[in-house]
Amino acid sequence: MQDGNEDGDRGAEPGKHLPVLLPEVLELVAARPGGLYVDATLGGGGYTEALLRASRPSGRVVAFDRDREAIEAARERFGADSDRLSLVWGSFADLEEHLEGLVDGIVADLGLSSLQLDAADRGFAFGAEGPLDMRFDRSQDLTAAELVNETDERELERVLRDYGDERRARAIARRIVSRRPLRTTIDLRRAVVSVLGPRKGGIDPATRTFQAIRIAVNRELEALETFLEKAPDRLRVEGRLVVVSYHSLEDRAVKLAFRARAKDAENERRFRILTKKPLTAGPSEVARNRRARSAKLRALERVA
Ligand SMILES: C[S@@+](CC[C@H](N)C(=O)[O-])C[C@H]1O[C@@H](n2cnc3c(N)ncnc32)[C@H](O)[C@@H]1O
Repeated sequence: MQDGNEDGDRGAEPGKHLPVLLPEVLELVAARPGGLYVDATLGGGGYTEALLRASRPSGRVVAFDRDREAIEAARERFGADSDRLSLVWGSFADLEEHLEGLVDGIVADLGLSSLQLDAADRGFAFGAEGPLDMRFDRSQDLTAAELVNETDERELERVLRDYGDERRARAIARRIVSRRPLRTTIDLRRAVVSVLGPRKGGIDPATRTFQAIRIAVNRELEALETFLEKAPDRLRVEGRLVVVSYHSLEDRAVKLAFRARAKDAENERRFRILTKKPLTAGPSEVARNRRARSAKLRALERVA
């Protein structure tokens, strides 16, 4: 399943990120005055803003992002609340290093923000010409250009199949290899379209390929696995972990990690799943915000 983030549908006006499932996230994390919360994925700051408001007057928020630009933008935007907000430029996989004690709630909203998608020079969108970059963290060495131009054909095929659910992974990988070096997002899109043909309604043919390469460049599933292993243990009793994902592999990882915790009899069932089925956005939210259409929300509570 594709996450629909790269297919050129705008989630918001350019330069703005509309938070997805925000009322549901807030309700499930049960934010309250004086609490301590983690926003694992700051992005445009939508969840952080809501957590700061719900935890007024003395509550605190620690917000992470791998994207330095997201951190800088939040520094300006939340200046007035700076005594209650700690901004961490880093991965949520390392959350333990930045937290001293236990917290009342952790929220994570995976994938990329509209701010990143709308900035052509970040190379996430195939609708605008940009360098093949796709790094959340621009200090990282591996870029999409390196992955596309230097990975061997078999591995490229695996990336497209596993992270993009791309049925024509083999043919696209072969075409990419034959056209190397690819320099821009448009070069990559053209290579895909030359295999799949032009858009025939529905999503753009390049959606799956762009998603797959972005996930591989940022090692997104590896970071998520580490986060899911560590985050539940950072919760106080009655503390909650809420994760919103946009891709079937991510949702599966969240579901399995939550189940393992909830069934862990050796640990005396310290956790309880709050969402038997994942919550999804209703039609009116999807109409307002196309990014919401593939969102799945799951929540876990520490009970003992
Ligand atoms: C969907 S956006 C979050 C939007 C946010 N909830 C809002 O309402 O504005 C996801 C953000 O997570 C960041 N991100 C992705 N992987 C990350 C990781 N491993 N650690 C920290 N941030 C990450 C991305 O850079 C992006 O800014």
